Amino acid sequence: MSDVETEPTADAATTTSEDSTEATGSRLDEMPILRVDDLVKRFGGITAIDGASFEVERGTITGLIGPNGAGKSTTFNCITGVHEPSEGSVVFEGTDITSRRTHQIATEGLVRTFQIARELPEMTVLENMMLAPQGQLGESLWRSVAPIARREVVREEEQLRQRAWDTLEFFEIDHLAHDYAGTLSGGQRKLLEMARALLTDPEMMLLDEPMAGVNPSLEKKLLEHVHELQEQGYTFLLVEHDMDVIMNHCEHVIVMHQGQVLAEGPAAEIKSNDEVIEAYLGGEV
Ligand SMILES: Nc1ncnc2c1ncn2[C@@H]1O[C@H](COP(=O)(O)OP(=O)(O)OP(=O)(O)O)[C@@H](O)[C@H]1O
Ligand SMILES: [Mg+2]
Repeated sequence: MSDVETEPTADAATTTSEDSTEATGSRLDEMPILRVDDLVKRFGGITAIDGASFEVERGTITGLIGPNGAGKSTTFNCITGVHEPSEGSVVFEGTDITSRRTHQIATEGLVRTFQIARELPEMTVLENMMLAPQGQLGESLWRSVAPIARREVVREEEQLRQRAWDTLEFFEIDHLAHDYAGTLSGGQRKLLEMARALLTDPEMMLLDEPMAGVNPSLEKKLLEHVHELQEQGYTFLLVEHDMDVIMNHCEHVIVMHQGQVLAEGPAAEIKSNDEVIEAYLGGEV
């Protein structure tokens, strides 16, 4: 773990004197927030991702589409450390995060939600929220033992509780705070998933079919939240099967097919791409 943490320092040490903070800052802004290069993931004999490369521009809602089994969820898993890629690299905010662990990647500001929500059903909504953030002070053993540090832990927990309430309010599920997560509807679970992911204070969120099982009015609300968050500066990569959602809400679309990137470009261009139409018709048989 310490090896990983010293990496950025080592990079900084080799930076030349030309790199003023200002210049570095503006370069960071221009850089894609996420870059995936030649990603390969094999499961035994199955090649789920077969050399996929793409970039996501900062501040966009980018769609990741493709027929069932194209490799979308596996790509998310490889980006966020759920699976280790067999080959290739993932660079987030200029930092190579390939093969890092999920919580380390979350600390860098990149989080995801799962195709099937992963809340803990036997805990309340609020308790689920309180479990979300990574690297809280309370997790560090010495702080729980030292008296002064303990006060810090308590203060941090209060702040976290407040943020949890604010986030639940933002998603309009604060009235469910004391209900067991297991009693929520499918749509409410999706909102809780997003609320939990947001609580880690990310810069970018990968959403894996966030609208699946969500009723139309909740879907509309969820999309409004995504746009509101985009306006605040968040970046989204969205896996979604509903083409209307993709076409109406994503400025850029990446199409995967059989583990590879088949096409990418502005939504309108993708819509009329013959190869994309073919891949979808083929996939639906
Ligand atoms: N853990 C695993 N072990 C073995 N094979 C896997 C594993 N995860 C995914 N696969 C396989 O990898 C391929 C890509 O699956 P993936 O779930 O990434 O597709 P997807 O594009 O997300 O599909 P969907 O739209 O149905 O969610 C499939 O053939 C799938 O069976
Ligand atoms: Mg999937």
